[in-house]
Amino acid sequence: MAKLPQQPEVNLGATGHVDHGKTTIVEGITGVWTSDHSEELRRGITIKVGYADAAFYKCPSCPSPQCYSTSPKCPECEEDGKLLRAVSFVDAPGHESLMANTLSGAALMDGSILVIAANEKVPQPQTREHLLALEMLGMKHIVIALNKIDLIDDSRSLAAYGNIEAFLEGSVAEGAPIIPISAQRRLNIDALIEAVEGHIPTPQRDPKAKPLMHILRSFDVNRPGYSIDEMKGGVVGGSVIRGEIRVGDEVEFGPGIVDAKSGKYERLIAEVASLGTGAGLVEKVTPGGLVALGTTLDSALTKSDALVGSVLGLPGELPPIHTSLTLEINLFDAAVCTPDLVKVEKMNVGEPFRLNVGTAVTLGTTKSIKNGLAEVDLRRPVAAEEGSRVAISRRIGDRWRLIGSGILK
Ligand code: GTP
Ligand code: MG
Repeated sequence: MAKLPQQPEVNLGATGHVDHGKTTIVEGITGVWTSDHSEELRRGITIKVGYADAAFYKCPSCPSPQCYSTSPKCPECEEDGKLLRAVSFVDAPGHESLMANTLSGAALMDGSILVIAANEKVPQPQTREHLLALEMLGMKHIVIALNKIDLIDDSRSLAAYGNIEAFLEGSVAEGAPIIPISAQRRLNIDALIEAVEGHIPTPQRDPKAKPLMHILRSFDVNRPGYSIDEMKGGVVGGSVIRGEIRVGDEVEFGPGIVDAKSGKYERLIAEVASLGTGAGLVEKVTPGGLVALGTTLDSALTKSDALVGSVLGLPGELPPIHTSLTLEINLFDAAVCTPDLVKVEKMNVGEPFRLNVGTAVTLGTTKSIKNGLAEVDLRRPVAAEEGSRVAISRRIGDRWRLIGSGILK
């Protein structure tokens, strides 16, 4: 991947039903195939949330949409283009069993491309489930990519377009631009970039806000055989959602790491040793894109995704850590799981649920439900501020299905 001229300033989601072409679109724009874990290659699906960056440019001379590209020199006329912004794609898995990963990714998106394959009936179950998830998380900026138009003729493309318009009616994406593309043949990618530029703005950022980063990955970058001098501290990856973090800052992780003996979670404090972004190693990071944050932590504490779901901020300024949540509940009318929509029954006391809070996933059991408020005891603690949106899933058949949301009181 070419080094970016600047750190990405906005996270664009790629969401939608399995196999509809999310990763192919991200590759078509960024040149990066995000699903490169061995299991993903074997199964041919995205499992973990992937990131890939691009910079968007506009040629001053060419007409729209050909003037939009990811190349500093216009691919049409070779004139120097104007840098519009650097962006990062957050590529979510579409498979129904991977909704927890999708929700973790969605917590980091500022807007999303919802990908819908033109050659399948609209909507497929996870087209609906992802749209509901985006809506539930408060996302307002959505662009539809009507993909795989190479597989169908014009009249079926038009019919798909109409079906999508009807499906979006009454949702947060009503009236969103629908861009027909073929990701595989790289057709109309410039029009998709134009729609993203027109409809998914970079959110207003406050550099003075208390910094907060959601952790989506955590690893030990040392290889067996490294000498003590070569050993590096623990590394976490994720997105800063507000404020700024600098090399040398002291930071705190919460809820942190579970102590094997007591079963209690312990917050960790460390210094930021390095900051890696799509623009290379930098001294300061702001919201947007995947940040690899090197720390002075013992790398044994960060290995194997141990800190995934934790947040990072300045010491003493983390959101509160909860072992139970009081949620104002809003259930969907119908469960979104299957082609036949099933009515969502009310939540029961003592029932287990899966909750997604930011990039954290935990099980919880309802202790009480009264006047639309549910109190839920958590299997593992989460760091979250009042007003946070929590995705609630229920076990239906052999899968966890998104059934609604809660607002943290
Ligand atoms: P998950 O991440 O597993 O949900 O899938 P995805 O939405 O990322 O789909 P992916 O990009 O992996 O594409 C799925 C299949 O569709 C692959 O075989 C692609 O080559 C194919 N595909 C993607 N875009 C197009 C397209 O525009 N036309 C055609 N004919 N095939 C496409
Ligand atoms: Mg994919």
